[in-house]
Amino acid sequence: AIDIGKLRDKTGYITIDNGFKNTGSTKSSITFLDGELGILRYRGYSIEDLAEKATFLEVSYLLIYGELPTEEQYKEFEYEIRTHTLVNEDMRKVFEGFPVNAHPMGVLSSLVSAMSAFYPDSYDSNAPADTEMHIIRMLAKLPTIATWSYKKSQGHPVNYPNNELDYCSNFLNMMFALPVEKYEVDPVVSKALNKLLILHADHEQNCSTSTVRLVGSSQANIYSSISAGIGALWGPLHGGANQEVIEMLEAIKADGGDTQKYINMAKDKSSGFRLFGFGHRVYKNFDPRARIIKKAADDVLSKLGVNDPVLEIAKTLEQAALEDEYFVSRKLYPNVDFYSGIIYRALGIPTNMFTVMFAIGRLPGWIAQWKEMRENKEPIGRPRQVYTGPTHRDFVSMTDR
Ligand code: ACO
Repeated sequence: AIDIGKLRDKTGYITIDNGFKNTGSTKSSITFLDGELGILRYRGYSIEDLAEKATFLEVSYLLIYGELPTEEQYKEFEYEIRTHTLVNEDMRKVFEGFPVNAHPMGVLSSLVSAMSAFYPDSYDSNAPADTEMHIIRMLAKLPTIATWSYKKSQGHPVNYPNNELDYCSNFLNMMFALPVEKYEVDPVVSKALNKLLILHADHEQNCSTSTVRLVGSSQANIYSSISAGIGALWGPLHGGANQEVIEMLEAIKADGGDTQKYINMAKDKSSGFRLFGFGHRVYKNFDPRARIIKKAADDVLSKLGVNDPVLEIAKTLEQAALEDEYFVSRKLYPNVDFYSGIIYRALGIPTNMFTVMFAIGRLPGWIAQWKEMRENKEPIGRPRQVYTGPTHRDFVSMTDR
């Protein structure tokens, strides 16, 4: 790889790479992926192993600190997170100002940004001990504030965290427990959630992670950087695709289940329609996360006794696309989002919360990447451009225009 940054000042050349398709923005030791071979590893450990054997907090520790935790390190990390799940009551006042139908991603991004105001020492995050505490706070409090939008949409009171529960069970309890009846977390549900969060935990320099690093490169605090990342994730071409997929599958079902009609529409550029959950900037053979999720969707739905007709529609659609020249020649395969929504739905998560679930999963990745960037003392991110506007023009006063 050529280090263009070092060449630039000497040559005066600027490289144009719209969408950064071939531009490396950093060196990183966090996540490795090979798009041709369908390999994804966090700190050297394969995604298949981690999704099968680890807990989400173990993976979070691995991403953020570089090693799998020992038993003692894990206990301490988990204890710290469990004891910081409560959110300042004044944050609730900020939340109360949002309309009941506000999209949960807009609310989440705003509340994470607001957290910087509650922890003003985050503006000076050069002090390592403080940074550690902000990392714990982010991991501990994001699930708490994420559940508020759902509770409000149901007209229910919010649930406070229960620190006796593990990370996933605590989230499910805050989402679904009601003061009027006993709620037991189903271990099948909590295990499935654990797996989904691990699969989303990091994916090197994707759009939202690059956003977190770019914002953080100006030495903005961690809350502002991650709030910006949440905004980037929300877009339908990135994390927002998981909501789009289920809405697309529902539309196909309501339209009589004619998958070929939608395949044809996706192939017709003038339709403006894309097959959501298909295609990936880096994976050009298969997305290893999609393979794990497809199998998990079958397992989880059968264990929970859920019969969701959109699962069959998704499988038919996938098969038809995989046999279609348009998709084959462009190397378009199902990505991580194609089947994730079907599992989230089976777990009882509403559609407009799907991308929020992605954000909870991606959080340790954003944190690890932000931390690596700051520790490596990377320079401020500031891309160049090739100017295409008018050359010099004389000013014309308003009366003469
Ligand atoms: N449906 C139909 N055609 C598609 C699709 C799709 N889902 N994805 C790509 N194509 C076509 C493009 O029209 C283009 O065709 P052309 O060569 O004839 O012009 C070709 O495939 C290459 O596509 P690009 O858009 O250039 O690929 P890029 O790498 O820029 O985009 C992306 C990748 C954004 C993921 C794209 O495939 C897409 O929009 N997919 C649907 C949205 C989606 O599922 N996003 C989630 C991605 S995973 C994640 O963020 C977690």
